[in-house]
Amino acid sequence: MFDFNRVIERRGTHASKWDNMARLSGITSPDAIPMWVADMDFAAPPGVTEALTAEVQRATHGYYGDTGSWAAACADWVSRRHGLRIDPAWVSPTPGIVSGLGLILQATSAPGDEVVVFPPVYHAFRRIIVANERRILDAQLIESGGRYVMDLDGLRAKLTPRTKVVFLCSPHNPGGTVWKTDELRALAAFCAEHNLLLVSDEIHCDLVFAGAKHIPTLTAAPEIADRMIFCVSATKTFNLAGAHVGACITPNADLKKRLDARIAASGVGSYNLFGMIATEAAWRTGEAWLDALLLYLAENHDLFDARIEAAVPGARSMRLAATYLAWVDFSKTGLTPEQVDRRVKDARIYASPGAQFGPGGETWLRFNFATPRPLLEEALVRLDGAFKDLRTGR
Ligand SMILES: Cc1ncc(COP(=O)(O)O)c(C=O)c1O
Repeated sequence: MFDFNRVIERRGTHASKWDNMARLSGITSPDAIPMWVADMDFAAPPGVTEALTAEVQRATHGYYGDTGSWAAACADWVSRRHGLRIDPAWVSPTPGIVSGLGLILQATSAPGDEVVVFPPVYHAFRRIIVANERRILDAQLIESGGRYVMDLDGLRAKLTPRTKVVFLCSPHNPGGTVWKTDELRALAAFCAEHNLLLVSDEIHCDLVFAGAKHIPTLTAAPEIADRMIFCVSATKTFNLAGAHVGACITPNADLKKRLDARIAASGVGSYNLFGMIATEAAWRTGEAWLDALLLYLAENHDLFDARIEAAVPGARSMRLAATYLAWVDFSKTGLTPEQVDRRVKDARIYASPGAQFGPGGETWLRFNFATPRPLLEEALVRLDGAFKDLRTGR
């Protein structure tokens, strides 16, 4: 029904993934394959294209009038997919999740305050904290049984009176960790004990593989609802990242008021018409597309893991429970991170450098495998060739 194998030419279309690759990576070959930033090379759900086409054909693109249908669609989606009942009145649209995180920091902390992150973690967390003149407090994740776990005792020892906010990534990027209820409850109790605001970025919550289940932080620990904001978005799930719309959600009316005041102060309380139309249509019509996508991504994931580990002796791909971002450790290959990076780039493939994700990421690369199988196959053939000498001694 949905043709995820179809290769769509994205070069020369202002697709950052393709058109910023040469500048960022130095790989100038026209046949380079981007496996870095987290967007997919698939067409959006048909319902999104239909809604945008109707808007384009009407050809009157004035200011967006918010009737409340967007927040209602968001609430319906979260309830249907994750069993979490929310009041649409808790929802604040923002121009994307990262901007939402910045606005949350402005609303709830002061310059010089510390924000906890769990590295290796999505690099924009670091960027938005620093850009808002707050400080990063790293609580490094530990690998246990092939997945990441949080070290809250280690974090406790690092807290200072300036520690105010915790950024959780759930599911975790990179590493695809789906946090368990008891892990979320332990973090929630920690936040209550130390008077911290818990910001739970759940942008990857819909991209969870069979066998795992995303638990919303609010479901796991409703007793700390008053000190929690969580973020979701249709843009990651349905490949609409350029639409730049996200939802920041809190049941705490006072917290929401403070966030909305920052949104108003930044002049972003009038929303992007195209983004709102696209994301509402996705939530309302995209479920069958998403279910099909998840099956396709699971096959890509299995293919990628098997082939990368066969291609590179000593490499290990973390078994993802969620996300389309393979997280591969090269520390036992006998190569330095620079040598690995060189070989991958010489194969005309751009993966995200692990060091971007903070401490603990240095020997890793993150590969985005959300691409049609013909392109993934080509990338895997190239990677196989790039490390051939390690297997054959030649
Ligand atoms: C954890 C996480 N949060 C936020 C984003 C980006 O959100 P937005 O484009 O809405 O700012 C990403 C993108 O990869 C992500 O992985």
